[in-house]
Amino acid sequence: MSRPAKATINLNAIRANYRLAKQCSGGKAAAIIKANAYGHGAVRVAQALSSEADAFGVACIEEALELRESGITTRIMLLEGVFTPDELSAVDRLDMTVVIHTQEQLTWLLAARPERPLAVMLKLDTGMHRLGFAPENVQAIYTQLAQCPHVGDITLMTHFSRADEVDEAFTATQIARFQAAVATLKVPLSLANSAGVLAWPAARADWVRPGIMLYGADPLDQPNAHSCQLQPAMSLTSALIAVRELAAGESIGYGARFTCEQPVRVGVVALGYADGYPRHAKDGTPVRVKGQKSRIIGRVSMDMLTVDLTAIPDAKVGDPVELWGDDVAANSVAAMSDTIAYTLFTGVTRRVPLVYVD
Ligand SMILES: Cc1ncc(COP(=O)(O)O)c(C=O)c1O
Repeated sequence: MSRPAKATINLNAIRANYRLAKQCSGGKAAAIIKANAYGHGAVRVAQALSSEADAFGVACIEEALELRESGITTRIMLLEGVFTPDELSAVDRLDMTVVIHTQEQLTWLLAARPERPLAVMLKLDTGMHRLGFAPENVQAIYTQLAQCPHVGDITLMTHFSRADEVDEAFTATQIARFQAAVATLKVPLSLANSAGVLAWPAARADWVRPGIMLYGADPLDQPNAHSCQLQPAMSLTSALIAVRELAAGESIGYGARFTCEQPVRVGVVALGYADGYPRHAKDGTPVRVKGQKSRIIGRVSMDMLTVDLTAIPDAKVGDPVELWGDDVAANSVAAMSDTIAYTLFTGVTRRVPLVYVD
């Protein structure tokens, strides 16, 4: 394979980030590895964490099946629950913990006849208004579940909508609503995503559910002492495949978006939007060329993008380019592309080989 584009996944960084989540929370942590571990490879990430993760979180049965088929025996949480009642037999067979967030799912669960009691996470809607039961109904639903002979462990959970905004009071409101709703129930609780783990001590209950922080991207709008310890897990890299000098007044690439105000040395990098790099990355988006700072100039194309080498006069064909990783924060590329690191990681396409270091 000779195309230089690749994503190097540092499994040690993922382990260190998982340990940070555990350290911050003091309780159990379900490593969220849905969407192919946010693009990092779910099976490899699960294997790397299998000796220490308390559980894994996935979005659908297919993702759980992939883990079980690769020999992962750790507890798996199905975060959106089942989509159809017949999926409950797979939940049973695969020994999963199933989230219940609608009346339909509750009805299906109560009518099911599993081989063994099913572990359940009952989801409360404390303000995200996407999934979950109204807090005032939780006591009654909990009683129904607790009385059902084929329901095993019950955990109560909620999900935050704004925990990444550290000065925003709404997370405290969600925590207070949750605590009020569950006050009389003596069962395990789970509130925090990564931002909750890192920035909201009151959200660190029996279980936390870190996702993006495992992969080293800081979800907080203001980094703190915990989030500064995160280690990037994915390095998206490629190499220069052409270097050229353009005269002042010449423009670069599709739509001639960037016009040279002075003579510019331009590098062409073998990586484009078909690899998952955002096409809407603006001029000035940071990259590193052989370790030195550079920037995107011109529109990103399908298989290539162009960078400014004016300050790196010795850069030549074959030199390495980091698009994000240890030196270029995925968050800074995301900010220049009007998106978030989550979409960058999950958007890396099949064409980019994942290479693991451990
Ligand atoms: C229910 C639930 N918990 C936890 C997470 C992890 O979130 P984050 O990646 O922000 O840590 C997600 C992600 O969407 C989720 O849906």
